[in-house]
Amino acid sequence: MGPTILQNPLVEDCLATLRDRKSSMVEFRAASRRISFILATETGKFLETTEVTIETPLENTSCKKFSNSLVLVPILRAGLGMVDAFLEIFPEAELGHIGLERNETTAQPDSYYSKLPELDGKRVLLLDPMLATGGSLSHAVELLKSRGANQLTAISIIAAPEGVEKICTEHPDLQLVLGCVDRCLDENSFIRPGLGDYGDRLMGTI
Ligand code: PRP
Repeated sequence: MGPTILQNPLVEDCLATLRDRKSSMVEFRAASRRISFILATETGKFLETTEVTIETPLENTSCKKFSNSLVLVPILRAGLGMVDAFLEIFPEAELGHIGLERNETTAQPDSYYSKLPELDGKRVLLLDPMLATGGSLSHAVELLKSRGANQLTAISIIAAPEGVEKICTEHPDLQLVLGCVDRCLDENSFIRPGLGDYGDRLMGTI
């Protein structure tokens, strides 16, 4: 299935702050949280629901509730910037973590941590603001599948067409929800025009 790309002036406004090199760490964090709320709401559109009967104070009525338990899995570090907003929208979600760092020379992901709850029968929402070459996301998806995940949604704020192509080819079963798709990757595998290094700007490690 193809990616869902948000088209919404609210998203554009958040992206303008995230892209601006003059945005402070505090402004960057606030925009990150705001766009994550929008992405979480959009992700909600794709979740499976089951009909249930609910007793209102006046009568019984038919309602819909999420069919599956949810697991949020941020890819460290940058994915942490999306967790708070997703937890507000999906407060009952369990939380796992995958630590990946892209090697600055080879652009390949090095894995340094993973701690995950039981994944069988649950929908996993994988959070990583940046999808550049797609190496990190592909690695994370393979790890989650090897741990029993078979309903996967990945959410990124900014993506490069090269990474989207790789992910859609390698994992056609993955749902992909994106804030935007930029022009291209440069010779250093940075997204252009991009916003720089999300993790560094979020954590203040520049
Ligand atoms: C960034 C980003 C993604 C990855 C994307 O993380 O948050 O995880 O790179 O690149 P890819 O699609 O080419 O794999 P980084 O390795 O800089 O680590 P950090 O989050 O700790 O800053």
